[in-house]
Amino acid sequence: MDIRTAPAAAAHAETRRGDYRPPDWLVPEVALDFTLDPDRSTVRARLIVERNGAHDRPLRLEGDGIAATWLKVDGAPVEPVMDGPTLVIALSGDRATIETEVALHPAANSKLMGLYASGGILCTQCESQGFRRISFHPDRPDVLSVYTVRMSADKARFPVLLANGNCTASGDGQDGNGKEGRHWAEWNDPFPKPSYLFALVAGDLAPNRDSFTTMSGRNVDLGIWVREADLAKTAHAMAALKSSMAWDERTYGREYDLDLFNIVAVDDFNFGAMENKGLNIFNSRYILADADTATDGDFDAIAGVVAHEYFHNWSGDRVTCRDWFQLSLKEGFTVFRDQGFSADIGSAAVKRIDDVRVLRSAQFPEDAGPLAHPVRPESYLEITNFYTATVYNKGAEVIGMMRTILGPDRFRAGSDLYFDRHDGEAVTCEDFVKAMEDASGINLAQFRLWYSQAGTPTVTARLDQDGGRTVLHLSQSVPATPGQSTKQPMVIPLRTALIGRDSGAELAPAQVILLTEAEQAIAFDGITEPAMLSINRDFSAPIILDVTRAAGELESLAEHDPNPFARYEALQELMLRTLIAGANGEPVDPAPVIEAMRRTLASNALDPAFKGEALLLPSESMIGDRMPLVDPDAIHDAREALRRAIGVALADPLAAAQREGAPGSDLSPAAKSIRRLRSVALGLIAAGDTLRGAALAKAQFDSADNMTDRQGALGILVSLDAPERQAALDGFYDRYQADSLVIDKWFGLQAAAQRRDTLAAVEALARHPDFSMTNPNRSRALVGSLAMNQWAFHTASGEGYRFLADMILASDRINPQTAARLVPPLGRWRRFEPGRAALMRAQLERIVAEPNLSKDVFEQVSKSLA
Ligand code: TRP
Ligand code: ZN
Repeated sequence: MDIRTAPAAAAHAETRRGDYRPPDWLVPEVALDFTLDPDRSTVRARLIVERNGAHDRPLRLEGDGIAATWLKVDGAPVEPVMDGPTLVIALSGDRATIETEVALHPAANSKLMGLYASGGILCTQCESQGFRRISFHPDRPDVLSVYTVRMSADKARFPVLLANGNCTASGDGQDGNGKEGRHWAEWNDPFPKPSYLFALVAGDLAPNRDSFTTMSGRNVDLGIWVREADLAKTAHAMAALKSSMAWDERTYGREYDLDLFNIVAVDDFNFGAMENKGLNIFNSRYILADADTATDGDFDAIAGVVAHEYFHNWSGDRVTCRDWFQLSLKEGFTVFRDQGFSADIGSAAVKRIDDVRVLRSAQFPEDAGPLAHPVRPESYLEITNFYTATVYNKGAEVIGMMRTILGPDRFRAGSDLYFDRHDGEAVTCEDFVKAMEDASGINLAQFRLWYSQAGTPTVTARLDQDGGRTVLHLSQSVPATPGQSTKQPMVIPLRTALIGRDSGAELAPAQVILLTEAEQAIAFDGITEPAMLSINRDFSAPIILDVTRAAGELESLAEHDPNPFARYEALQELMLRTLIAGANGEPVDPAPVIEAMRRTLASNALDPAFKGEALLLPSESMIGDRMPLVDPDAIHDAREALRRAIGVALADPLAAAQREGAPGSDLSPAAKSIRRLRSVALGLIAAGDTLRGAALAKAQFDSADNMTDRQGALGILVSLDAPERQAALDGFYDRYQADSLVIDKWFGLQAAAQRRDTLAAVEALARHPDFSMTNPNRSRALVGSLAMNQWAFHTASGEGYRFLADMILASDRINPQTAARLVPPLGRWRRFEPGRAALMRAQLERIVAEPNLSKDVFEQVSKSLA
């Protein structure tokens, strides 16, 4: 680290996994009393603390931006002693009652951590370390307490008062001597929980109420709380909640445990949603939907996030994390669970394709860059920076590989054992793997490397059929990553089949091959015809695969492989090879791709949703990821050329697909499939013929009775030079001006446009009256979408980098978590051609030189430069 960054680095202490020690003091009970007001709220806390083991260390209670107005120990006032932000209390006995009072200013809390105000609603966000912004507490996930919460507020402004667990009492007035017009409620959560799962909400909210009968016959009251005007948009979330509850009973044997389950939607939220025990709090974009304002993708995301947070009730709340290095224990497993739910309620093949696309576009670049870290990280400055695609999505793949290796029945036995053994505990990733081992009898010693080694393994595969023998040669290597220069071979489960080159039939039944060594050869018996390798089917391992193939194999697999995912992969690989050749300036024949796409379009055996996925070209950034250095212009030109060639050659079958529609009221998988293919086809038609594409897109836009078709058409129009473009954008804005979630789309689509003037348009939109840095959805819609738009963001002038750096610095003063999420696109500078790399690096240096940087942004920027 250089001199300039040293002072800031010294100010930010690193937390290391190996330094874990059990808590010195336990807190079996917490009683909180909130007097709520956006401008001044007070929080009185009474903690029962107990010495944990024989030691003479004081009680240390963490605080962040709070001060104790007073402190009492066993009822006697004590002068608070601070060690920085930490309250230090020397105690002679083994048990004590600690009372504190702090004052908060929720309306001024722009970090959206702790107690804050969103659109007139007061709510909390405590994961990971937000509770210490509300009250003094050990605030670590291995300290579990039973919480009793009392709150009072102005009854007219905050008629609804919610917290974790069950409401035990409520009434008007405040403690009998309160101010005019106030009321109060008391809540109790009988399940001991860590402070990060505490939640409270006060606001003018209306409920969509329903109920669910659990497998043992208990009734659970369900409530989704939103602004009255949004009630009509909560039906889908409620249906998703009820089907998740039933799915978790069926699939994992997990039953809900309280009599009440509430969800609240707020507009200002740093992530997707939060699994607070019995009181999930959601970003409103993952609750509110109707056909007029939400796309099929939005509906699916809502079901997925509602399920995710609900599933946390067991994988996260009943069994929680010992420390934050174990984050993937709950997040990886819960993502795996929500992916399984979505696969079961929709098309499993399409869901897998989507999940793999997310992994490849978000996690693989992370694993290949300066912010690479293991699924179980070793150290952090700011834990919020580790809510990553690696911890979540690669973490889910790690769970999935265990299921593949154990088989579904032993995996279920393992999860049963895990939940039973650790119910009510705060545990580690190791405990999870151990439960899987104990229940299955399968040794997972080497498999554990997936938790400790960062980097995406590359596997090479070659099928050798010389001299009548069929032998599969495999090798693996794991790249060096920051802090890990040498790697050991991993356990890589490869779902594999051999397909007859002539017959197209499976010659050897699909099997799971475990690659465990650096090099391995597997012989197949009884193969008499030329065979093709179908490997890593269903993406059985999160790896980069390099298969030596004969000419024509990918085309043949794209048409014949009985495994839909493998067929998709073959076509993608064929496209990628063509696109990379084009970007390298080699002569390119688009015919094989076009013919493979023609056959896919014509196939009667395929679901239209699958066709839509299969026909989507790899994104420009995915092409870049496969090249030694990224040249955004060459990639863009190659991809546009191929899209144009496809659009021209397949104009008629694409037009036929685009003509098919489905009524917006129909949310069945079949109807979604038709709409999916429709807009993908429209995009290719427009690539082949701008005028025709613009006219068709405008017609689809104008006649749409659902947001999927409307946004699909607008998403194509925004990239075209056609008069229909501005008319559609203006019409969309006028129609949805009052709906902030739809206006997010309006910002996002313009930032995603494939145009030379996109960057200038985004800079202008950043001055639009509806743009706001304080709302994470809005800033991500504009700034995040631009950073994902490779060609538009990476203009050779470096203007995009300067704009992003400006946005990072501006948002760091408001909301460091949101600001830090904008850093990784700049952190990828080493992947770009030297001119751009230097400009990107210069902006990172400009940011790190800024005084008073948050540790969130400091960590991401300094690691990106290291
Ligand atoms: N645990 C949340 C989830 O289900 C993540 C989350 C919500 C979060 N809000 C947050 C993480 C704020 C950090 C900060 O994935
Ligand atoms: Zn989660």
